[in-house]
Amino acid sequence: MEKIKIAIVGTGNIAKSAHMPVYKKRDDVEVIACADIDFEKARAFAAQFDIPAAYASVEELLASCKPDFVDVCTWPAAHAPVAIAAANAGCHVMCEKPICHNLADALALKEAVLKNGVKFMLAVPLRYGDSAVKARQLVDEGVLGDVYYGKTAYVRQRGIPGGWFSCSKYSGGGPIIDIGVHRIDLAWYMMGCPKPVSVLASAVYKIGDYRDETKVDTVSDEVSANNEWTGAQVADYKFDVEDSASGVFRFENGAQLLFETAWTFNGPDNNTTQIAGDKAGITLEPFKLYKADGKDLVEETLEGDLGDFFGNEIAHFIDCIRNDRTPSSSIEQAVQLQRMLVGIYESSKLGREVSLKD
Ligand SMILES: NC(=O)c1ccc[n+]([C@@H]2O[C@H](COP(=O)([O-])OP(=O)(O)OC[C@H]3O[C@@H](n4cnc5c(N)ncnc54)[C@H](O)[C@@H]3O)[C@@H](O)[C@H]2O)c1
Repeated sequence: MEKIKIAIVGTGNIAKSAHMPVYKKRDDVEVIACADIDFEKARAFAAQFDIPAAYASVEELLASCKPDFVDVCTWPAAHAPVAIAAANAGCHVMCEKPICHNLADALALKEAVLKNGVKFMLAVPLRYGDSAVKARQLVDEGVLGDVYYGKTAYVRQRGIPGGWFSCSKYSGGGPIIDIGVHRIDLAWYMMGCPKPVSVLASAVYKIGDYRDETKVDTVSDEVSANNEWTGAQVADYKFDVEDSASGVFRFENGAQLLFETAWTFNGPDNNTTQIAGDKAGITLEPFKLYKADGKDLVEETLEGDLGDFFGNEIAHFIDCIRNDRTPSSSIEQAVQLQRMLVGIYESSKLGREVSLKD
């Protein structure tokens, strides 16, 4: 079987700690090139993982080699230009979440993907977790009945990632874009991806950058004591994003999804997702089925956990390329998800429910 040739653009933390280890374990793929606007970083990455070529831009990379797919691991503001360049060069694209920096970029990317007939997959790894896939299967089999409710949270008491993550010019937003997106997509996927019609939400900056007070060095490239994750440092850095958000999405089938997310919150950490239908409900943490049995509700512990979600995610995309299938987190779903994220900010700004209809 011929190996699938991959190029990675953006050689930072996610490429290093999550994607490369999966590629290295597979013998049906090879990473033939990488690129980063910080060329020294790309060179070091290539040396670390035995990648034959490193470049300073996606344009240079695409002019020099022809990968089967480009894995976009840059900060969100660069997702669209990099992914569009790859699609225009005839490469399939896997793109880190969120699809883009704003809705216009997401729509431009969709156009490029459709025009060039390439495959696109949004990297939202939690929906590829074993328990999430099993939950969705139960929904598709009708075990839950009419799924009318979802509740999902990714809340950190204290956990602002370092670097560009909190600077909207690069990230497009704070915890909504960084971590909330994971749980919103996960719950939406488990609910069967109903069509969103509206959102009422609030995105606020209340506690703010506690790292200033504790004198955490925000210009260091090290992972600090307070931050589990530190993105690349940017010269024009300023913290100008929300620190928490909450709200409710409504869907065309009448279902609703409540969400909350925060980098800083004066309450417990919360990383949970549940959905409920008129016949049964599911919680992921713990992984349980709550099934109506006459007057009673029977609780059943389900087997499994999220498992190797990064491995499953990449395996899914490779399977889609090899067997001409449409990825689960397709370009259409990625655009809808972006519409939902952008809607949160719009609703918060206007102080009312906003439409998500296209
Ligand atoms: N799936 C997950 O669990 C998860 C976790 C963390 C981050 N992410 C996502 O992964 C992406 C990268 O995050 P990270 O933590 O690796 O950030 P990072 O800062 O460590 O790496 C991003 C890299 O992209 C490079 N870059 C920026 N613009 C570029 C361009 N136009 N061309 C080439 N390189 C460019 C930067 O120089 C930097 O080295 C983000 O979209 C983030 O949201 C996903």
